[in-house]
Amino acid sequence: MSTTPMRLAVLGSGKGSNLQAIFDAIDAERLHAEVICVISDVEDAFILERARQRGVPAEYVDGAPFRTRLDGDAERRVIDLVRQHGGTHIALAGYMRMIKAGLLEAFPGRVINIHPSLLPAFPGLEAWTQAVEAGARESGCTVHFVDPGMDTGPIILQRSVPVLPGDTPAVLHARIQQQEHLAYPEALQAIAEGRGGAPTG
Ligand code: GRF
Repeated sequence: MSTTPMRLAVLGSGKGSNLQAIFDAIDAERLHAEVICVISDVEDAFILERARQRGVPAEYVDGAPFRTRLDGDAERRVIDLVRQHGGTHIALAGYMRMIKAGLLEAFPGRVINIHPSLLPAFPGLEAWTQAVEAGARESGCTVHFVDPGMDTGPIILQRSVPVLPGDTPAVLHARIQQQEHLAYPEALQAIAEGRGGAPTG
């Protein structure tokens, strides 16, 4: 792999197992990328600790006064940080805020998300709980480009899992996460190689 690696900023609010999967795929040369910074809206999120342990800049950006979206000063700060670190793409990995036009226009066609269902089924929060409560026989994960909607952007790839009798939401989420950890690096590599069906921009 002689080309320049994709320069990825990762945004997350939680434990960062998808960030770890991205690091592992880079180390295994399955993903030609460099994580140039990790940004969280939760000061003590473990995703920031994973970044620090690897020597990747870990940045906390308070989302206040907004609770569920990235907007205003916080959005500008995130855009500035990604640019300062030379990021070309943004991967959302459990980032619990809606992304608005400002960030999407700053990185057109270059903001990617992973969602724990087979979209368009079960958008929104706790998709694994939604799947169990709906009695779904199958669920999975979706990697998609982000647009201004809620989990609605163009799909890059999906991986499915069965929903088994007796599954609790937590058991199903763990099964889905195993597939996420394969799907996210695979989708990012497809984008790095220009195979991701990227929207223009
Ligand atoms: C994942 O299930 C992802 O699909 C969802 O949030 C969770 C993040 O998990 N958007 P982690 O922080 O990467 O472990």
